[in-house]
Amino acid sequence: MDIVTITLNPALDLTARLEAMSLGEVNLVSEANLRAAGKGINVAMVLKDLGREVGLTGWLGEGNQQSFVTLFAERVLADHFVRVTGSTRINVKISEQSGRVTDLNLPGLTIHEGEVAALEAAIDELAPQADWFVLAGSLPKGVAPDYCARLIRLLKAKGKQVIFDCSGLALTEGIKAAPTLIKPNLEELEQWAGRPIKTLSEQAECARELQAQGIAHVVISNGADGLVWFGPDATWQAIPPRMKVVSTVGAGDSLVAGLAHGLSLGWAPEQTLRLATAVSALAVSQIAVGFSDIDVLTPLLEQVRVQRLDDLAPTRLNTPSMENSGDAQ
Ligand SMILES: Nc1ncnc2c1ncn2[C@@H]1O[C@H](COP(=O)(O)OP(=O)(O)OP(=O)(O)O)[C@@H](O)[C@H]1O
Ligand SMILES: [Mg+2]
Repeated sequence: MDIVTITLNPALDLTARLEAMSLGEVNLVSEANLRAAGKGINVAMVLKDLGREVGLTGWLGEGNQQSFVTLFAERVLADHFVRVTGSTRINVKISEQSGRVTDLNLPGLTIHEGEVAALEAAIDELAPQADWFVLAGSLPKGVAPDYCARLIRLLKAKGKQVIFDCSGLALTEGIKAAPTLIKPNLEELEQWAGRPIKTLSEQAECARELQAQGIAHVVISNGADGLVWFGPDATWQAIPPRMKVVSTVGAGDSLVAGLAHGLSLGWAPEQTLRLATAVSALAVSQIAVGFSDIDVLTPLLEQVRVQRLDDLAPTRLNTPSMENSGDAQ
């Protein structure tokens, strides 16, 4: 095992398609799919497809764990999830012919003291086996918003590198523990900053503030417009190729997996960024998370545009070689 992902709040995603929904009536669903999901789990699947040995932990409800257990067996992921009394949350997504989508997010687990201790014991046991940890996704009930910060500190005290991808208050609190890398999207960054972030120089300003708090790598993603990576030595921008979007689920997680892969192998930033961007672009072109054949990445790797931003003036976005990026702000 060389990387461990931590998912504190996994979910079962139930998607249902029907002609049109009538409230208060019995509705026949024409197509349904139940999928084990969760940000850290997605990251692990992509890392595995990149050839890494991955371990997973977090909390999983014992009441409805079968889809997860099946997935971990299929994708050969080492399952170190702590089992918790109750059922993992189910998120229902109902899609109608008209294109209208209705979400029903059911309540999930409530975590108790003993389960917190059990998770930390699992992490203690995994720590000697991996130098890199990825902590991704939201928090379940019963856990305080600063819990990610606690885990980050615990891992850092053991000398581990921590990649942290979270939002809202858990992100704000986790930042205080100075993980190795964070990957907010623009919206999450705005939430943290408490102000709109319109230009690249405003992104740079935030990144500098975050780096001053001890976060070496700040990666700010912005959907089809790509991402900017503020590293300790240089700033890089990557623009993905134009993709036909099938589902954006897992794009951010794929990006995180690519970054974790390159960084943990000590790759040059440009190579890491090219791979991470290609993997995330691929993610939006398909429903599934990950890929069965690594060769599908080859054309995308060539099409990703990476450039070093030595000057952070916002006008840099409009250089002729980056014609796609005119609206990147
Ligand atoms: N429409 C798209 N076309 C090409 N690449 C995309 C597209 N959307 C996202 N990506 C790629 O995926 C990366 C992450 O996407 P995004 O910024 O939307 O992350 P996110 O909001 O964290 O996503 P998630 O909802 O998975 O957490 C982008 O930086 C980009 O490389
Ligand atoms: Mg995200």
